[in-house]
Amino acid sequence: MQDAERLEVATRAAREAGQVALAHLHDPLYFQLKSRRDLLVGASLRVQDTIRDILARECAGDAFLAEEGPDDEPLPVDAEHLWIVDPIDGSTNFFRGLPIFGISVGYRDPNGFRVGVVYDPNRDELFSARSGNGAYLNGERITVHVAGEGEDAYDSSLIGTDLAGDTDGRVNGLRAATHVGNRMLGLVMLGSPALGMCYVAAGRLHAYFHLKLQLWDVAAAAVILQEAGATLTNGAGSSWLYSDGSYLATNGRLHGGMLRLLRAALPEANPKPGAASAR
Ligand code: IPD
Ligand code: CA
Ligand code: CA
Repeated sequence: MQDAERLEVATRAAREAGQVALAHLHDPLYFQLKSRRDLLVGASLRVQDTIRDILARECAGDAFLAEEGPDDEPLPVDAEHLWIVDPIDGSTNFFRGLPIFGISVGYRDPNGFRVGVVYDPNRDELFSARSGNGAYLNGERITVHVAGEGEDAYDSSLIGTDLAGDTDGRVNGLRAATHVGNRMLGLVMLGSPALGMCYVAAGRLHAYFHLKLQLWDVAAAAVILQEAGATLTNGAGSSWLYSDGSYLATNGRLHGGMLRLLRAALPEANPKPGAASAR
């Protein structure tokens, strides 16, 4: 199966899952805490099942790795053809009926991350890309936006971030946010990292950073960012494929400046390349 066909299937799956999510926006069924500030919202399992059923039917033989499990099966991280899915990115928003969340569907094969779809059902915005073919929002080509050169651009740049759930990650994230927010035009926390990164790809934000993400938060957006001309690294400026959980996506021009700000805010942070590999 070609990437183009997989992109078409992923688009259909994300759109259908989006309808399930919208139907449950004010009816999340139940919630459990997986860990501090990490919610499992009951309805997200229905969203995930919708995606899984479509992929299993149309891409038989491909493996499926999703945030909401099942937890009693080994993760197929080494599969040749692997779908990586976050059924609802922005669970806390979703749980509270706040209409800011995305459905993230990424595909990786031995050549790398090939296909990415992030769907925002509340705005009917579908961000999509396949490797080598550009990035799109509802079928229209998107690229990053450059507000200016180097530090001169800081006063015109809008940055996104979200906070990790654990206390250390949260304190560090707030320190970084203070540093970055004081220097830039604006700082937003939308509560959906996948959407935040797509907004960089679409030129709405100039950079997005997060200190603790998982592969399912990033897999689809990584393809979209790359195809939109963005730069994506870990929080220390090394390959995102070897991130310890920190990620920085920018329009490229801002990357060096953002890395300097993050380093200044968190001088003791020394992410270990290879601690968590996405390859
Ligand atoms: C989380 C949220 C949150 C972010 C976390 C993510 P989820 O994803 O997007 O904003 O700070 O790091 O894990 O649980 O809503 O899919
Ligand atoms: Ca997520
Ligand atoms: Ca999720």
